[in-house]
Amino acid sequence: MEKTNIAIVGLGTVGSGVARLLLDHGDRTARHAGRTLWLRKAVARDLAKAAARIDLPEGVLTDSIDEVVDDPEITVVAQLIGGLEPARSIMLRLLESGKDIVTANKALLAEHGPELFDRARQLGRSIAFEASVAGGIPIIANISQCLSANQLQSLEGILNGTSNFIVSQMDEFGSNYAEVVKTAQELGYAEADPTMDVDGTDAAQKLAILAHLAFGAAVDWNDIPKVGIDGLDPVDLRYARELGYRIKLLAVANLTDDGLELSVSPTLLKIGTPLAEVRNAFNAIRAIGDAVGPVFFHGLGAGQMPTASAVVADLIDTAVGRTKLTFQTLEYFSSDNPPRAILRD
Ligand code: NDP
Ligand code: HSE
Repeated sequence: MEKTNIAIVGLGTVGSGVARLLLDHGDRTARHAGRTLWLRKAVARDLAKAAARIDLPEGVLTDSIDEVVDDPEITVVAQLIGGLEPARSIMLRLLESGKDIVTANKALLAEHGPELFDRARQLGRSIAFEASVAGGIPIIANISQCLSANQLQSLEGILNGTSNFIVSQMDEFGSNYAEVVKTAQELGYAEADPTMDVDGTDAAQKLAILAHLAFGAAVDWNDIPKVGIDGLDPVDLRYARELGYRIKLLAVANLTDDGLELSVSPTLLKIGTPLAEVRNAFNAIRAIGDAVGPVFFHGLGAGQMPTASAVVADLIDTAVGRTKLTFQTLEYFSSDNPPRAILRD
């Protein structure tokens, strides 16, 4: 059987989950890709920390990105370092050296997406990013492929697992805010800087990515009006519950006659309705298409193995060339001719 040599860069929560899936379940990648996905290198910044996280076959673990860049046998790389730098520079270097990329880094795509996608296109390479929005839920594939016959009218989503975990724990068990933030970090849900989760930044970045795919709107995530859950008081949650509502951090994109309205804010949702019942690190997205009508997606939006599930699916798609489909959607919305979002004040 043919094999595709893979590298992972960034062996943290998600990276080690991806390594585990590749090493323990090669049969699945063989079944779906018709070829073996072979983990050839895994790059970590701190070798001792990485080795404590996951036991890798001899010769796989390295602290040198050069061992990936200079190896022509490695054709696909899972880039799983968070934040903007050095993630951006490493991504560009990997593209220049002829690698196709899979990433979960939504902050990087929301901030530098046009530059990275344009460069990949010039070089004939692809960047797959299913894991960047809603963790294990295949929302990117659904919007860019399965629902492509539709003009989407609206998207409403719980897109940040950490915020939803915090609000759920406070609402259901009266947990202390600071303690639940710490638990979310320990469980691997939170960003390296959890401020990004609780102030709505992460949800706004994910909404900008979805808006690009669903509406062709080149939105700067900084322009999306956002309020996080960091200002919520337990009393707000209690009063809401007494009135028959839950409060959820909701990201909304609505196509109106005046343009596309985008926002991220804590929102009252009637108890018993599907979005109100999304608990803990689960995410959900309700989309309405003009042909399909309403559709609902629900699943774990953060955490090691749900996210690794999305990354490995992208690795398989990239190995067999299926990623190009999502990429064509983005090519249509290239930065040479960006469609404009009309954001209402
Ligand atoms: P982690 O912080 O756990 O992992 C990132 C890893 O990258 C760390 O181990 C870090 O090393 C390593 N790293 C940083 N710089 C370098 C470098 N120069 N060379 C090699 N390794 C480096 O984050 P996650 O795994 O949780 O997240 C990774 C990405 O996936 C992020 O962009 C995140 O937003 C995204 N994501 C995360 C999800 C989750 O549930 N955790 C879900 C969906 C997306 P060190 O340990 O030394 O800091
Ligand atoms: N910190 C993110 C969250 C990880 O909690 O949703 C998944 O993108």
